[in-house]
Amino acid sequence: MTTTDPLRYLAADTFAGRTVFVTGGGSGINLAIAKGLAGLGASIAICGRSMDRLQSARAELEGLGARVATYVADVRDYPALQQAIDSTATDLGPIDVLICGAAGNFVAPGEALSSNGFRAVLEIDTLGSFHAVRAAFEQLRSTRGNVLFVSGCQSVAPYFGQAHVGAAKAGVDALMRSIAAEWGVYGIRANTIYPGVTEGTEGRRRVAPDETAMTAWTRSTALGRFAGAEEIAAMAAVLCSPLAGYVTGAALTVDGGLALAGPAAINVALRQLTSE
Ligand code: COA
Repeated sequence: MTTTDPLRYLAADTFAGRTVFVTGGGSGINLAIAKGLAGLGASIAICGRSMDRLQSARAELEGLGARVATYVADVRDYPALQQAIDSTATDLGPIDVLICGAAGNFVAPGEALSSNGFRAVLEIDTLGSFHAVRAAFEQLRSTRGNVLFVSGCQSVAPYFGQAHVGAAKAGVDALMRSIAAEWGVYGIRANTIYPGVTEGTEGRRRVAPDETAMTAWTRSTALGRFAGAEEIAAMAAVLCSPLAGYVTGAALTVDGGLALAGPAAINVALRQLTSE
């Protein structure tokens, strides 16, 4: 059984009066999560690098009835991100939920990866996630809030052309566990979600740009299809809500069974992609 709107199974006021900050919230899975939580009553702050993308996301979120704040900030730039996070407290109220979603990805084999390329992804994903939790700590402590990191299957298995992403996401996972262990004393929870390849996202376009790659991914997925963005948003909403009040330090895989198969079949397609 599938549903196009799994979020309707949660109470419509689950996040009423709550402020959610989403890094990289202007598009993709992060915007889907923002929209999911907006539909459940949250006020939403998003940051990203592109003003155009933020403005279009703002219109979608306001269309759901949410109060919205947008900030142009690159997660690699700590002062800019700190300012966005500080402004959120004034503009919408202190942050209850922080989604560390900003990420970079491209497919490139290790031997073709420059130092700068490796660094760019590590700085966006790993350092950027640290910047966000560091800057939001005082607000999260005051709200006894929670953090959700968006990671990926590359952190635990060697997907071809994803050495930089795997290293970055493994760092994100480790950061999550440390934050969960250290900040539990303040009532702050921290968890990770591992989305599968998700329809309509830049990530999907990058790792499955052609028919061969798409078929390899879907054949390797037990449910035989990509995720709908709202299916990822639904599980993010559960983890960030009081339903998961005793869940911290956990990694939730929402990949339709992709990890069960391992990367072997997909690696053939990914290798083909970079040798064309
Ligand atoms: N193959 C190999 N190297 C690549 C590459 C590719 N497809 N794309 C970028 N790089 C390298 C660049 O060559 C550069 O290294 P160099 O200076 O040695 O040439 C380095 O990565 C940084 O690229 P640049 O475009 O200057 O960085 P940026 O900070 O503007 O962009 C990226 C960061 C590379 C992650 C870019 O892809 C991006 O902005 N992604 C955001 C969106 C995204 O990835 N979404 C998917 C999330 S799952």
